[in-house]
Order: sequence, then C-alpha cells, then structure tokens
Amino acid sequence: MSQPQLLITGASGFLGSWLCEAAQAQWQVTGLYNRKSGSDTAVNWVQANLCELDKLGALITRLQPQAIIHLAAISNTPYCEAHPEETAKLNVDVAIALAQTCAQHKIPFIFTSSDLVFDGEHSPYKENAPVNPHTVYGQQKAQAEAGVMAAWPEAIVARMPLMFGFGKTAPNNFMTRLLEALKAGDSLSLFHDEIRNPLSAKVAAQGLLLAVDLAINQRHRGLLHLGGPEAVSRYDLGVLLAQAQGYDPSHLEACSQDEVAFSMPRPKNVCTDCSLAHSLGFTPPSLAEQLAPH
Ligand SMILES: NC(=O)c1ccc[n+]([C@@H]2O[C@H](COP(=O)([O-])OP(=O)(O)OC[C@H]3O[C@@H](n4cnc5c(N)ncnc54)[C@H](OP(=O)(O)O)[C@@H]3O)[C@@H](O)[C@H]2O)c1
Repeated sequence: MSQPQLLITGASGFLGSWLCEAAQAQWQVTGLYNRKSGSDTAVNWVQANLCELDKLGALITRLQPQAIIHLAAISNTPYCEAHPEETAKLNVDVAIALAQTCAQHKIPFIFTSSDLVFDGEHSPYKENAPVNPHTVYGQQKAQAEAGVMAAWPEAIVARMPLMFGFGKTAPNNFMTRLLEALKAGDSLSLFHDEIRNPLSAKVAAQGLLLAVDLAINQRHRGLLHLGGPEAVSRYDLGVLLAQAQGYDPSHLEACSQDEVAFSMPRPKNVCTDCSLAHSLGFTPPSLAEQLAPH
C-alpha cells in the first residue's frame, strides 16, 4: 500500500530539512520551496511562492495531501521589524489562507508559531496564557495563530522554542555562530539573564509529526507547546554546548541584557510549559543529549 502524502511548506529551510527526513518513515513527503529546493532526493520538491494567494487553492487541489505542516515564514526578527507589511503577507495571510484551504478539504493542518508571542515576564507559559508580543514577528505569529484557529478549529498551532541543529542546512542563527566560535576558540559574551527552553530541530520534527498524528486521530486541536525540557540562559546553553561537543567553554563570558542597547525588544524569559505535549506523548531527551554530536 502506498504511503499517505504529507505536504511540508518551508521544507527547504532549517527545520524543514530535519522534518523531511523524519517524516519519510511514515509519509510520502512533498516539500514546498520558493527560491531553492532542498537536497533530499526522497522528497518530491515543488516550487511555489505561497504569497501568490490566488494560486493556493489550486495548488492544494493539485497536490492532494493528506496533511499539511506549515513551516514557511520569514522569521528574521529584525527584518520583520523593518518590513512589517511585506512580512505579514507570508507570516499571517498565507497561514490563514492555508488553514482555510485545509478546512475546505478537511485535512489536518499544523502551523508552527513561536514562543515570541509571549512578553517574557511571566514564564513558564501554558497554552492558555495570554499572548503579549513585543516584536513585529511575535505580533504576526499571534495574529496568524488566532486566524488559523478561527479558520480551521481542527488545526494545531505548535509553539516552537529556540531551535538548533548541526550538520544539515547551516542557518546563520545563534547556535551555529556559537558552535563556530567554540571551534575557533573565540571569546564570546552571552546573556545570563535571557532564558529559553531550546530544542533540537531533530526532536522538534518528532514533535510536529506527533502533532499530525494527534490531529488525524482527533486527540488534540488548538495550541500545543513543543518546547525543550530545560530552561537555560544563553550563557548556560553555550557552556552545555561546549561540554557536549568537547570544546573549551572558558572563552565564554556571561553578560546581562542590561549592558546592551537593543534596536528592538528582547523578551527575558519565554519558556513554555510543555506538560500538555508530554501528556500526549512528546518526550524530548535531556538538553545535554540533544546537544551531543550524532
Ligand atoms: N528556527 C527557530 O529557532 C524557530 C523558533 C520558533 C519558531 N520557528 C518557526 O518555525 C518555522 C520554521 O523555521 P525555520 O527556522 O526552519 O525557517 P527558515 O530556515 O528561515 O525557512 C523558511 C522557509 O520558508 C520558505 N519561504 C520563504 N518565503 C516563501 C514564500 N514566499 N513562498 C514559499 N516558501 C517561502 C523558505 O523557502 P526558500 O528558502 O526556498 O525561499 C524556507 O524553506 C517558521 O514558521 C518559524 O517562524 C522557528
């Protein structure tokens, strides 16, 4: 019997590359990209600019997926701050339009949101905690969340934390730069008072596949927090990464957010309470295990 088809938007991106690999055990994977396809030859790559909203319905009708995981986004927060209207098209309008299309086809829809919908003052946040985003990106995610759930009440909105992953697509993100600095023995100052519950993209992919399963079996709908198992500061994360990968952490220095003038707000602590996801079968390994080379 042929496998059911899972459509992953943003499949060519950082999380997408891990999700495409993990999904293949159960699914025939169709990966959407805009500018450049991924390299996984087991994926059926399809080019589409999702911002062409008038073509979305026909695209889904043509591909006929059994479920959609929507990762595509512009998640560069300074870029969103500088280009709120341009980025809202993908980050808000496309998410809602895809949810509407999934509602018409009655297929599961998983939308990846972010812990940056929270203000960072009242962690750990449960799913029912009020959102209060301080950045344009966080505001767009919060707006998309509400629109997605109104358009398709069976959808799952997965709030993702800071994610890391090495060895696949090398995004220019915090963790990649941190690992490069550790390898080079460069000194680096990291906040001791900015707290996150990070998760590897590999484990995040398992969480998202669980979410699809929960949606198919009608075991959950609405918000779901897929954060990592430990709340750590950026500095502690740097030390843990150095220890896990066998580098000298002595070049890392702890500093405070208060020592830096930011061009945009940086929430102090957006850690999510993930007990709901745990009760539904999400079992992330310890952070040290996730940070170790595989
Ligand atoms: N990375 C994190 O730490 C993190 C944390 C919390 C939440 N999230 C959320 O998780 C999701 C995945 O994040 P990521 O880090 O993997 O993102 P990413 O690496 O920046 O990938 C973005 C993806 O979106 C696609 N895309 C951009 N514009 C598009 C368009 N107009 N039409 C179709 N596709 C388009 C890109 O395709 P092309 O490259 O082909 O243009 C790429 O595949 C996002 O929703 C993000 O907001 C990420």
